[in-house]
Amino acid sequence: MAPEPAPSAATATADLVTTVLSALDSAATLPLASTSAFATIPPAALKGALDSLLSREMVVYETLEREVAVLTGEGADIAARGSHEAKVYEAVCNAVDGMKISELAKVVGAASAKVGQGKAFKEGWIKKDGDKLLKKADSIKDVTREQLNVIAETQTYPDVKILADLKKRKLVVMNKRISFLINKGAKFALQIVREETDLTAEMVAGGAWKEKTFKAYNFAALGAKQNSGALHPLNKVRHEFRNIFFEMGFTEMSTDRFVESGFWNFDTLFVPQQHPARDLQDTFYISDPAVADLPEDTEYWNNVREVHEQGKYGSAGYRYPWRAEEALRLVLRTHTTATSVAMLHKLAQNPGPARYFSIDRVFRNETVDATHLAEFHQVEGVIADYGLTLGGLIGFMKEFFRKMGIDDLRFKPAYNPYTEPSMEIFGEHKGLGKWVEIGNSGMFRPEMLESMGLPKDLRVYGWGLSLERPTMIRYKVSNIRELLGHKVDLGFIENNAAVRLDKS
Ligand code: PHE
Repeated sequence: MAPEPAPSAATATADLVTTVLSALDSAATLPLASTSAFATIPPAALKGALDSLLSREMVVYETLEREVAVLTGEGADIAARGSHEAKVYEAVCNAVDGMKISELAKVVGAASAKVGQGKAFKEGWIKKDGDKLLKKADSIKDVTREQLNVIAETQTYPDVKILADLKKRKLVVMNKRISFLINKGAKFALQIVREETDLTAEMVAGGAWKEKTFKAYNFAALGAKQNSGALHPLNKVRHEFRNIFFEMGFTEMSTDRFVESGFWNFDTLFVPQQHPARDLQDTFYISDPAVADLPEDTEYWNNVREVHEQGKYGSAGYRYPWRAEEALRLVLRTHTTATSVAMLHKLAQNPGPARYFSIDRVFRNETVDATHLAEFHQVEGVIADYGLTLGGLIGFMKEFFRKMGIDDLRFKPAYNPYTEPSMEIFGEHKGLGKWVEIGNSGMFRPEMLESMGLPKDLRVYGWGLSLERPTMIRYKVSNIRELLGHKVDLGFIENNAAVRLDKS
């Protein structure tokens, strides 16, 4: 047989409301616990119905909570049919010529025979005669049964010691009982008056509004959740980084050149043409179109070639046959330093102090794992000024990272083909309790700057870091694939909090 469809929550509540209202109509106060009409209704459902009536001031009610003693299955059996010992006594009385001990279990059941026999002896109700049990007392008083009957009726027992003993014997358990004491409210009525939520033009024009009851405004209501857009965590952290840069007087570079020539991505930065970073395993090359146009500034092109081939501006050069085809291969940019170079090259037309930054995607042909993707976002900054020193770079880095909430920095000598000296920057990850690499930096080499036409005494710092690492730390993401790509949970994007980098 198909089960009956469950009544919907709404109709169930409506029925309950009607039951409550009509019951209240005949009694000023309803002690619901003892009103049989409500005995089978779960307290939560009843409370729902009462709350909806309360909000309309149709009822007022109090919730009463008390502990009641309830008989267990065994307790109920004893209350109805007597204790084990009483059952044994009765069986012995009923036996015509004494009760054979071996027969007892058959008559009263194994459990009663086992427990009841000993007790009946102890009470002096029966005696033993050979293999038989005989009646000893003329009449007995079944105290346990009487006690349990009191509890069945009153749900408690006047003597707490006895109650505790019955609990210990597992004849009684204590239950919580919720009941409601209900009174008529100021606006009591037998039926819920429909409350209008909208005042329509027709009601106003026809005067019908005078007859209607309007629902009061609920100013505490939270309002419906709007299906709005959400910023990706990377965008939130990016926003904070941009603010730091702007605060420190930086101008944002345009980073729309995702495809660069090898010249701007590598050669201008003196990454030798045989360098492993330029291998297919590390760099994505473009096949169509595969070849870039020659840069307009042929003087710069020639200067770069000369530094590679034979050295210039005090540099010894790499001294290998530099190939124009290699420089004209198109690549997905492997770092935003390609953009920084282009900006510095532009600066050479009108040299002077400048601060530039960018935050955008770069691409590396990496094996994808929990912490690496084939693309990530690079945060990069360059500062050009006269008389810059390495100490100044260190000082600047401290201030920059302090604005991100990283107070302690360590610097480790490193190598970049385009900077000298170069330093890796380490910050203490408070959560992990260890030092993690957070950036790479250095002072651009003179041959890099002079080949563009920048004056000898104009020095330039540069540094770069990934946007992903601080974002993962900030949002406690351990697998980068939860942050970027097709496995990202949209709920994570929609619900995560805004970020404020600690500006101490
Ligand atoms: N290009 C470097 C990187 O990808 C960052 C950097 C930029 C280092 C400028 C020094 C100067 O890690």
